[in-house]
Amino acid sequence: MEPGSSTLLTLLITLSWFHLAESLGTGLGLSPHMGWSSWNVKQCDSASAKYALDAADKFISLGLKDLGYEYINIDDCWSTKERDGSGKLVPDPVKWPNGIKAVADRIHDMGLKFGLYGCAGQMTCAEFPGSEGYAVSDVDQLVGWGVDFWKFDNCYTPCKVNPRPQTCPDPAGNTKTWYAPMRDAILAARARTASQIHFNLCNWGRDEVYKWGAQYGAQSWRISEDNYGDWASIERIASTAADITQYSGPGGFNDLDMLYLGSPKLNTRQERLHFGLWAILKSPLVLGLDLSNISASTLEIVTNRGIIEINQDPLGKPANTFRPPGGPEPVKGKIYPYWVGELKDGVVIGLCAGTAAGRYSLEFRDVPGLGRGWYEWTEMYTAQTGWGSGVSLDIGLHDMRVVKVGSFIFSTSNIPSRLSGPAGKRDY
Ligand code: GLA
Repeated sequence: MEPGSSTLLTLLITLSWFHLAESLGTGLGLSPHMGWSSWNVKQCDSASAKYALDAADKFISLGLKDLGYEYINIDDCWSTKERDGSGKLVPDPVKWPNGIKAVADRIHDMGLKFGLYGCAGQMTCAEFPGSEGYAVSDVDQLVGWGVDFWKFDNCYTPCKVNPRPQTCPDPAGNTKTWYAPMRDAILAARARTASQIHFNLCNWGRDEVYKWGAQYGAQSWRISEDNYGDWASIERIASTAADITQYSGPGGFNDLDMLYLGSPKLNTRQERLHFGLWAILKSPLVLGLDLSNISASTLEIVTNRGIIEINQDPLGKPANTFRPPGGPEPVKGKIYPYWVGELKDGVVIGLCAGTAAGRYSLEFRDVPGLGRGWYEWTEMYTAQTGWGSGVSLDIGLHDMRVVKVGSFIFSTSNIPSRLSGPAGKRDY
């Protein structure tokens, strides 16, 4: 190491902790945020007051608010295509007949929060005005409207290709550079006003954003390209997330992208795995679906209180894969069957039939964080309960079981271990 570089390193580490502490000090992002986003509903057509207020009403009538769903987030296409003469963003008057503030106020009156979307480049991904050169002015507008959440995208940013394309294949620099002005504007607004805007970075995981997102004042950051609502997206995003769980926790969480339940390309088993895996990985739970047309089976999944409680567990520790004796080799890009995460009052085991249907069995002594002994457990999707030295469940293709292992009953360190019997049955 060069002389002086250790001092520099210490300074950098101190600074990064300072920023993390600053982010924690806001009280924001201590657990993954929960909400709804307009994007997967009807893309540009759903970026309106009507969709925002309908979603807020549904949060109340469907009981979502009581479960912790909080943010009503409008994505791309909410403004006009041009700024006004003073460089201000203009809410599309057709989509927002009474402006943004009236909607934000109403949503606040319902005990919910309101989010908007912007972009670090010249234009948003759908070619509405971007914030390049306007960060301070745009944040002033957000503060004036009472916006609580700002998703910040990465289209039309500096690129070696000219003119800049929507999604740059060969960036002219690092996303950190073009996210810095918005970071500064958000931090200044937090310091100057009562505003506590949740800053969500959407640079699709580029430049290892999970390593510096918290230092950029963000409470969450996308780790991948979009969830397109098909099985390939679920596999791609979940396996990316599995490799970077150590960068996610209270103050700043890996964002696996919106939940695309209700997509015609996913069946109910795949929806259960999608929701369950996002939850135990401590991703934000943002419903990307039309709440007016939600099916009974999808509603049942997204209102699973036990799984939501696991997602919101105060430790905020994402689950990781683990390989029990005889467990398969991990296959890149595929969903591994065995996951475990620490909770305040136990552990969560995720069993994923990502590649094959069948019986999935575990001895608790082989699970990191559990010892040789008997434990009580509850499966969250089937409400099956049991106790013993392990768990063994039949799972259909692409389905998932989320097992919370709670109280330790007694140690069996001197007794040969065996799997528990049928659910609920004592097996000694
Ligand atoms: C990008 C983002 C999406 C969505 C669209 C809007 O693709 O990754 O989540 O916000 O832009 O144009």
